[in-house]
Amino acid sequence: MLDRVVSPLTTSREPVAPQRRLQRLRRTASLRDLVAETGFTQSQLIQPLFIVEDPAGAGAIPGLPGNARLSPGTASAQFERDLEAGVQQFILFPVPARKHAHDFDPAFICEAIATLRRRAGEDASLWLDTCLCSYSHDGHCCLHDARGEQDLPATLDALAGLALAYAAAGADGIAPSDMNDGRVAALRLALDSAGHDLVPIMSYSAKFASQLYGPFRGAANSAPTHGDRRRYQIDVRARRDALASSQRCAAEGADLLMVKPGMSSLDLIQPIATATGLAVGAYQVSGEYAALALLAREGFADFDLALLESWHALRRGGAAFIITYGARLGRALGLAAR
Ligand code: PBG
Ligand code: ZN
Repeated sequence: MLDRVVSPLTTSREPVAPQRRLQRLRRTASLRDLVAETGFTQSQLIQPLFIVEDPAGAGAIPGLPGNARLSPGTASAQFERDLEAGVQQFILFPVPARKHAHDFDPAFICEAIATLRRRAGEDASLWLDTCLCSYSHDGHCCLHDARGEQDLPATLDALAGLALAYAAAGADGIAPSDMNDGRVAALRLALDSAGHDLVPIMSYSAKFASQLYGPFRGAANSAPTHGDRRRYQIDVRARRDALASSQRCAAEGADLLMVKPGMSSLDLIQPIATATGLAVGAYQVSGEYAALALLAREGFADFDLALLESWHALRRGGAAFIITYGARLGRALGLAAR
């Protein structure tokens, strides 16, 4: 038996208990791999694609390096490159050429959906962000009545109309991002009655009002012309609201749930998964992705490593999948295909 242990961590010659040296298992790459608890594959990353109706609006997106607004014509080429890079999940954001008060026309995106769907086969899934803010005059995610109050029945009708058009064109899934009460139930009912009972709903179930959507609103032409979104998106301080919103989405028939912004909602992923029994994803939003790119641009971080780190943190927090503007970089960053 040892009668005396001399710790290298103390100058004292007194006997001390053996030190718990946590660094022993951090010493080499293979030891670190041995004790890694989280890992994920390219198949769990979802790549956003912005598709603009007006080809003149195509081009790079300020703040989101590696992402562009695509015309229906250039979308196919990008899609092809992404499939070759191993991307299996896409979320499409339609950006109409003209905004309207009501009677939104999704024909241009439906054509694009049909084209991409034919090419994708079973290699990829196309999710459709379903909201009104890119279509609507005032850039809100709901419709308003003559008095300027939210018109919920008209809002749910408009959302259902879009979702039905997307599903009929070949969308693999509907992703409502509007945060209006009752949208999941309304969409589920509409889809089921039109024979789209196998089209899943990925609900943006815990979506906070946030300053971190900035680059997106430029890309999607969806910034509100008056007011903000605090009457329908969740207040960042309201944890109970985020849980209730997610539980209601589950009760209304959502198949998948999501927290957003992802990096600032790490505390909610596991509780929502436990409360609902559903897979919960995280949306690494435009401002979060842009922040990493800006750090790297200023020489304060390596972009690739920072991105990978952020994905692992989301995964560690329990995210079943991640929507990220860097999904197409996954394989280059070393992720396995599936
Ligand atoms: C539209 C929508 C937004 C995002 C996804 N769908 C913006 C918003 O709610 O203002 C944000 C995505 C991002 O910032 O990357 N309802
Ligand atoms: Zn919206």
